Amino acid sequence: MNSKVDNQINELLQKMSIREKIGQLNMTVTPKTEAEFERTREKLRNGDVGSMILASSSTAGLDPQERVNTAMCNRVQKVAMEEGPHGIPLIYGRDVIHGHRTVYPVPLAIAAAFNDELVKKAYRYTAIEATSVGIHWTFAPMIDLCRDPRYGRIIEGPGEDPMVGRHMARAIVEGFQNGDVAQEDSMVTCPKHFIGYGASEGGRDYYRTEISDYSLYNYYLPAFREAIEAGSDTVMSSFNDINGDPVSGSRYYMTEILRDYLGFKGFVVSDWGAIAFLKRLGVTESESECAELGIHAGIEIDMCDDIYVRYLEKLIEEGKVSMETLDNAVRRVLEVKFKKNLFENPYCKMPEIDRTEHLKCARELASECMVLLKNEDNVLPLSKDKKIALLGPLVHEKRALLGSWCLEGKAEETPSFYEAMVEAVGKNHLITATDPTGLYDDSVRAMYQADVVVLALGESEKVTGEKRSLADISLPNYQIELIRKAKYSGKKVIGVFFCGRPIAMEGVADLLDAVLYAWHSGSEAAGAACDILFGETVPSGKTAITFPRNSGHIPMYYNATSNRYNGYFGNNSETSYEDSIAAPYYPFGYGLSYTEFAYSNMQSDCAEISVDDLKNGKKVKCSIDVSNVGEYEGKETIQLYIHDVAGTYMRPFRELKDYKKLLFKVGETKNITFELGYDELGYYMPDGAYVVEEGNIEVFIGPNCFAKDKIVLKVV
Ligand code: NOJ
Repeated sequence: MNSKVDNQINELLQKMSIREKIGQLNMTVTPKTEAEFERTREKLRNGDVGSMILASSSTAGLDPQERVNTAMCNRVQKVAMEEGPHGIPLIYGRDVIHGHRTVYPVPLAIAAAFNDELVKKAYRYTAIEATSVGIHWTFAPMIDLCRDPRYGRIIEGPGEDPMVGRHMARAIVEGFQNGDVAQEDSMVTCPKHFIGYGASEGGRDYYRTEISDYSLYNYYLPAFREAIEAGSDTVMSSFNDINGDPVSGSRYYMTEILRDYLGFKGFVVSDWGAIAFLKRLGVTESESECAELGIHAGIEIDMCDDIYVRYLEKLIEEGKVSMETLDNAVRRVLEVKFKKNLFENPYCKMPEIDRTEHLKCARELASECMVLLKNEDNVLPLSKDKKIALLGPLVHEKRALLGSWCLEGKAEETPSFYEAMVEAVGKNHLITATDPTGLYDDSVRAMYQADVVVLALGESEKVTGEKRSLADISLPNYQIELIRKAKYSGKKVIGVFFCGRPIAMEGVADLLDAVLYAWHSGSEAAGAACDILFGETVPSGKTAITFPRNSGHIPMYYNATSNRYNGYFGNNSETSYEDSIAAPYYPFGYGLSYTEFAYSNMQSDCAEISVDDLKNGKKVKCSIDVSNVGEYEGKETIQLYIHDVAGTYMRPFRELKDYKKLLFKVGETKNITFELGYDELGYYMPDGAYVVEEGNIEVFIGPNCFAKDKIVLKVV
């Protein structure tokens, strides 16, 4: 902060009463009715509120949310500025997770695009739309590493890989912030949920986690480190405990790790009610103790509990909380308000937004994240002159395509798959049925009349997101029945899966000729899927999450510290099951194209490098030739993995270290070079120290985590 702002904050702190200071740490919901407005006005006049959430409930991703009432926000802001004790503006926050009115794919799908620039652009457009209705602060990115597709919230984050998590964190934060949060159309970001929430045992929401320090540093923290380095000014604390220590009351996690170790300087907001939740978790007996624990842990803003407002003043009087602790917390909140320029520019001017480019970007991102998982006999792309039986429960669905955590997107503006197919080939080429399940005869009749069967399958948004975990990630039986009937028709059968999470593909993909994983891909999901089906776009998504064969394999992730003793890579099936093949159905990084890529001639510019040279910034260049040997121009994501052959601690058999997504013309060969330096070749010890150890490191480059081309690098 510059010294002018420092002085302004010091002056404010001198003038503010204890009550007014505590008010800055209190977040409430925005008023909706006149009566609520009057009550809020009273609170603002007393200085009891510092921030507001634009949500009608604690589970905003699930419940139908009211549109943002910008006029009301401006009215309330006017009260804060003109009638509040010191003219301190409110900061308005909302869960802007994957788009605003224009909805982009759910984040787990976005990760599959492996296209950071496009992700950044989508979030830039999201900020433009969200700020136009008065939202200053987004509760995003959600960057919880997650290995359990039963967990409903897996769809909100980047999946199982810390490197993908870092890329997503940076792209999203940079997109929202646009280099300077003071701009009217930039947003303050809030990486969440710090920390470990994605490790909920058994995928049960709000549940316990066990995370060793070794895993914390190597898997869970990297994305948060990246978001903080990219300039995030706030962080949200999580509901879960780690090893019996609830993080929203933990000074170890919220201060020692977040501030002292990661260098975070902004403010922390609790998740909704997470401070009061400490009592439910059994580490306090009273709400007052919750408040004491929360503020000492390092949580500045209490989201919607009123718990600081009700107890902090007394705790200060009793000497249990110091004025210094309170002042530091208020200072951090005010710093962000100054940084966002809210003192100068508190009101929303409601600019008109032209969404044409935003929708184009949504189409592009949706098609780049869709993953072609199977394409036997090149059944895809389809020619437009075929008669298509278009069947399945998601043919006419609109809302599910938008996914969970879609607060402003409108189902009625979202083309269904049927509508997009009509647009693509015309009604006359489509045969549909009244029964979406396939259990009655009109589906079967349609199959026999058609040249090819396209099934729109998947899951509802209602089984994804917060509080929406599943015990079983199998496709519902009635959908499997529909696939079977289609298969028995003797026609080629294409499954288009509109899902939030990976589903179990054993016994499903086997019956299909082609599988397009279209995810819950937002406003343009249906059109993007059609673009791929008819070859207008060549598929290029690669899944950023492992597809287990069945629920019993969970957790299954490619980068476990199991080294060579590892069924995932087919090396040791006895570590797995008697009744099931050990390898995943589709591995991390996997995805097909209509064209084909050949990898050859992998090289490095040195075979040996010293730890000192690495520390001094020397890098090893690894290169490979990639050729488009197929018949379509297309994009490929070239992935570089390492395997530290023998470490002090066990290392993963494969670890993604970098990727590049590039367009190849037919017949084109490109020499792709990656650089590996100190930051890529080491790992974290359980005490958080980063080390590069001597020994051999195998470097692999290829199209997914089963990459075969390899060189060995010796670190001395
Ligand atoms: C609870 C969720 O866990 C969190 O992600 C969200 O930001 C808040 N509710 C506010 O809606």
